[in-house]
Amino acid sequence: MLIRRPADIPSQEITSEGQYQSRRAFLASLGALGLALTPGEQRAIAHGIAREAGVHADDDKPTPYETVTTYNNYYEFGTDKDEPAANAKALKLRPWKVRIDGEVAKPADYDLDDLVKPYKQEERIYRMRCVEAWSMVIPWLGFPLKDLIDRVQPTSRAKYVEFTTLNDPQQMPGVRRPVLPWPYTEGLRLDEARHPLTILATGIYGKPLLGQNGAPLRLVVPWKYGFKGGKSLVRIRFTEQMPKTTWAEVAPDEYGFFANVNPAVDHPRWSQARERRIGEFFKRPTLPFNGYADQVASLYAGMDLRRNF
Ligand code: MTE
Repeated sequence: MLIRRPADIPSQEITSEGQYQSRRAFLASLGALGLALTPGEQRAIAHGIAREAGVHADDDKPTPYETVTTYNNYYEFGTDKDEPAANAKALKLRPWKVRIDGEVAKPADYDLDDLVKPYKQEERIYRMRCVEAWSMVIPWLGFPLKDLIDRVQPTSRAKYVEFTTLNDPQQMPGVRRPVLPWPYTEGLRLDEARHPLTILATGIYGKPLLGQNGAPLRLVVPWKYGFKGGKSLVRIRFTEQMPKTTWAEVAPDEYGFFANVNPAVDHPRWSQARERRIGEFFKRPTLPFNGYADQVASLYAGMDLRRNF
């Protein structure tokens, strides 16, 4: 994020209009073929995907799988957009441990499969807005983070949640260089973490996550800039104090702890008023809270979001 600006994205990296596939037509064709559909997919067909609880709008077609899995930010695997897909292929996904600790009644080192077993993986089609002024629409597979939080029982002192991601120089060529202070960490206030839109993702397009998208477990917070979505999580820690987060530590004037998508607050080096949906030619206006304001704006009542950007 520090290194490449939106204007630097070469035109060959932008997907052509014709590469889009219609999710609705795709789902309907699966249904017509009698193939098994998840409940989320059945709902999508029954109601038309556009009307699902403000999750996305009529003109939000899912970005093609090929694009979602080849145009990535994952600095542990390289700082160019195509490097994570090339370098994360060999990421070892099992066994995988996730430590849950800090201000919780039930701290534990979970084996990933035990951690996710109790939860039904649902599909959530979310608009995702990168701080670099591009966006995608991604059909995630995952479960509400709130369900996990309820299970581990934060204490009354817990106010924030810190997310730490894998830091393994053996597997990740990027962490052998001091591009960022490793490990990459992110954080949310507890009420943001418990919001029903906040999920832990295990897949996209009905398939398990690939390394470049944050396999095997990744945070997704659709009303915030994409950098809040820590990839390949190894630790979830509940804290009383606001945790340090990687980007806010590296460039505090550019990347705030809250990082809600806010078209009224420019990045110091570019405007946030508009965005390029990858695959589209014309830029579109950026929506406050990435279009999820009706569901999340109340979390920030009374806060000055120009200061808490
Ligand atoms: N998580 C880790 N561990 N390392 C990273 O470099 N990049 C962040 C976020 N999570 C990043 C990360 C940024 S800047 C963005 S925009 C999103 O991941 C990109 O997610 P995507 O590549 O799946 O679209």
